Amino acid sequence: MLAADLLSAFDQLEKEGSESFLGAVSETDLEAARVVYLGAKKGQLRILQKQIPEVEKESKPEVGKRFNEVRESLKTAFDTANRKLSQPVSTSSFFDVTLPGQRLRVGHRHPLTRTIEEVTDIMGRLGFARVEGPEVEDEWHNFDALNIPVEHPARDPLDNFFMQVSELTSRSVSKVPLMLRSQTSTVQIRTMDESDPPIRMIAVGRCYRPDTVDATHSFMFHQMEGLMVDSDVTMSKLKTVLRLFATAYLGHDVRIRFRPSFFPFTEPSVEVDMSWGKDGKQWMELGGAGMVDPNVLKSVGYDPDQYSGFAFGLGIERLAMRRYGIDDIRLFYANDQRFLCQF
Ligand code: PHE
Repeated sequence: MLAADLLSAFDQLEKEGSESFLGAVSETDLEAARVVYLGAKKGQLRILQKQIPEVEKESKPEVGKRFNEVRESLKTAFDTANRKLSQPVSTSSFFDVTLPGQRLRVGHRHPLTRTIEEVTDIMGRLGFARVEGPEVEDEWHNFDALNIPVEHPARDPLDNFFMQVSELTSRSVSKVPLMLRSQTSTVQIRTMDESDPPIRMIAVGRCYRPDTVDATHSFMFHQMEGLMVDSDVTMSKLKTVLRLFATAYLGHDVRIRFRPSFFPFTEPSVEVDMSWGKDGKQWMELGGAGMVDPNVLKSVGYDPDQYSGFAFGLGIERLAMRRYGIDDIRLFYANDQRFLCQF
C-alpha cells in the first residue's frame, strides 16, 4: 500500500470520527461511534493501523507519527463529547431574556378572615376585647342561661344541630346533650360566668343552624357578639357603639336604625338596620341587639339592680357582602380560586 493513500485514509478517518463523536446525541450513540472508530479489534483506526507495515519503508516513520496524531485527536474528540453528554443540560444556554416573566401567585386571606380581623380591630379601638368560646355547646349556655324557655321554638330539634348523646357518652365527652351553637350569645354567658363587671367583649365565630342553603342562608355562618356590662350602660350607648362601628367599617354615610323586636335574652330588644349612600332609602338588616335581660344577669350571679348591659349579634357574612358587593353567601365557602383571588 502506498503511504500517500494511507495518509489520506487517516485524514478521512480523523474528520469522520471526530464529527461522529461530537455529533452524538446520547451516550449510547457515542458508544456506538466509539466501537466503529476506536474499537480495539474491528475499529476503523485499528484496521488502518494494520496497514502500516505494508507501506514503503522510508515512509513508515511519517505514517507512524500520523497514526499517533489521529489516535490522540479521536480520543480527545471522544472525551469532549463524553463530558458534554454526561453533564446535566445547562438551562442557561436556553434562557430567553425576551420571554415575559412568570407571575408568582400570591396567597390571599379569605374575605371572611379579613372581615373578622377588621371588625375585631375596630371594636378593639372602642375598648372591646375579643374572647373565644366553644362551637360545641350545651343547652345551658345556648338556651337556659339566655332566658330561652324549654318550650321556645328556637329550641326545636329541627332548628338546631343536636349531637347524639349515646355517641358522645361512648367517647366519654359529656353526659348532657350537646349541640353546635346556634348563636355566639353563648359566649356572653361564659364571659360573665368567669368575670365581674365592667365587661366589654366581642366574640366572633361560627354558628350553625340547619337552614336550607340559598343565596342568603347557610347552615354555618359567622356572628360577632358584643357585650358591655357596667353600672351605667344604656340603650343610647348601644346605638353609639353600633353607629361608630358601622361608620368605621363601611364609611361615614352609613346610618343606623333600631326597630322594636324580641329576643328572650334582651329587654328591650331591637333589630339593627343600616343604610348608606346619598338617598339612603334602602335598609339592610345587620342583626339583633338590646339591653341584657335582668334574668340573664341573674343567671350568671350579677345583681340587675346594680348592673345593666347591652348586647348585640351581627352577621359577619352580611357585613362582608355589603363591603365587597357579594350577592351570594355560598361564594364564601366554595373555595373557588377565581373568587378568592379577588381579595
Ligand atoms: N343571638 C341573636 C341571634 O342570633 C342576636 C342577638 C345577640 C340579639 C345579642 C340580641 C342580643 O339572632
